[in-house]
Amino acid sequence: MQRTLSIIKPDGVSRGLIGEVVGRFEKNGIHIAGMKMIRMTQAQAEGFYHVHRNKPFFNSLTRFMSSGPVVVMALEGENIIEKNRKLMGATDPKNAEPGTIRRDFASEIEKNVVHGSDSPESATFEIGYFFNRFEIVS
Ligand code: CDP
Ligand code: MG
Repeated sequence: MQRTLSIIKPDGVSRGLIGEVVGRFEKNGIHIAGMKMIRMTQAQAEGFYHVHRNKPFFNSLTRFMSSGPVVVMALEGENIIEKNRKLMGATDPKNAEPGTIRRDFASEIEKNVVHGSDSPESATFEIGYFFNRFEIVS
């Protein structure tokens, strides 16, 4: 059993895609173990994306991620990190497979609707960034 952090980014929330994304998780039998809507400050987004602090897109990304509410979810299941990454599609929607969330709904690399952890280590950090243990129901 594995956990991963999913985020519906500010573009996904403002475009009314919460139900669409959550529906895809449910249709794929994914257990949502924790879920809430929050709004980050830019400093909080910088802490979340600290691995990208030296990237050229860091400032723009953290400004975007703090521009409005996001929905954070802890997903749980076998191989869930890879399963979620498959449902999301490639970072750049132009390279994402048809039928993935990013290909179906995003049109640019930054505002690409969803986030998903990329490893067990990042999943542990990312879930702990937003959830305490009473907010996760296995
Ligand atoms: O989200 P993912 O793990 O697929 O990609 P990442 O390489 O970890 O980058 C994190 C986020 O930064 C992406 O989802 C994009 O929102 C943004 N990004 C960007 O704006 N420009 C890039 N060239 C790469 C990523
Ligand atoms: Mg990433």
